[in-house]
Amino acid sequence: MNVLVIGAGQMGSAFVRQLVRGGHQVSVTARNLAKAEALAVAYPGAAAVPSEGAAASADVVVVATGYGDALGALKSVGALDGKVVIDITNPLTADYMGLTIGHDTSAAEEIARALPGAEVVKAFNTVFAPVLADGADFGDGQRVSVFVASDSARAKRVASDIAEAIGFEVIDAGGLVNARYLEPLAGLNIYLGYGAGLGTGIAPTWLRKA
Ligand SMILES: NC(=O)c1ccc[n+]([C@@H]2O[C@H](COP(=O)([O-])OP(=O)(O)OC[C@H]3O[C@@H](n4cnc5c(N)ncnc54)[C@H](OP(=O)(O)O)[C@@H]3O)[C@@H](O)[C@H]2O)c1
Repeated sequence: MNVLVIGAGQMGSAFVRQLVRGGHQVSVTARNLAKAEALAVAYPGAAAVPSEGAAASADVVVVATGYGDALGALKSVGALDGKVVIDITNPLTADYMGLTIGHDTSAAEEIARALPGAEVVKAFNTVFAPVLADGADFGDGQRVSVFVASDSARAKRVASDIAEAIGFEVIDAGGLVNARYLEPLAGLNIYLGYGAGLGTGIAPTWLRKA
């Protein structure tokens, strides 16, 4: 698949690394193009592209910016009608210890509302960047989960295929409305990782009795 990653920070870099490894055609854009170019050098096969028109050849767009920047970043890459948009954002407060929206909406729903032609899927928001970069194998048969929520079956399938191809277990979390649960779940993960000091080598999952 032809995947555009917007953002060359922690999650953007981890996505570029894993998507190239997964054999996708990867392009990456950033506010500062030099950061995207550095990623293209680090992960041969990825191409750094300016934001203008970057979505034109993409089937899938991963928005890997802060939530506050996400809509502007998505609009900067051109028309997204018919594209799958993977929203990994968490609408975090400045100290990362709370959410700025929730209960009656979510980052994913706000993005979908603003881009009615796009097929938005919430995914990967509960996976810390080092976990995404290093891979889903936690040892002892444990695999990290990616929760996917979308109103588009195609978008859910695309995000699931991407996650499974790089080794993650996929948990179907239902419609996009359930991003209202996934974003606080990421908040708990952040609290446990940083607030409670467990570090970033953790990930939430769901157990099912055999
Ligand atoms: N880090 C994690 O472990 C983690 C885990 C799950 C989900 N998330 C979510 O993933 C998103 C990204 O997190 P991160 O940790 O990767 O943040 P980050 O390291 O701060 O990277 C964000 C990147 O987005 C870029 N950006 C901002 N506006 C842009 C625009 N208009 N066009 C293109 N690029 C733009 C920033 O550019 P500049 O460098 O120019 O500022 C920066 O490189 C956040 O919403 C976060 O909540 C993060």
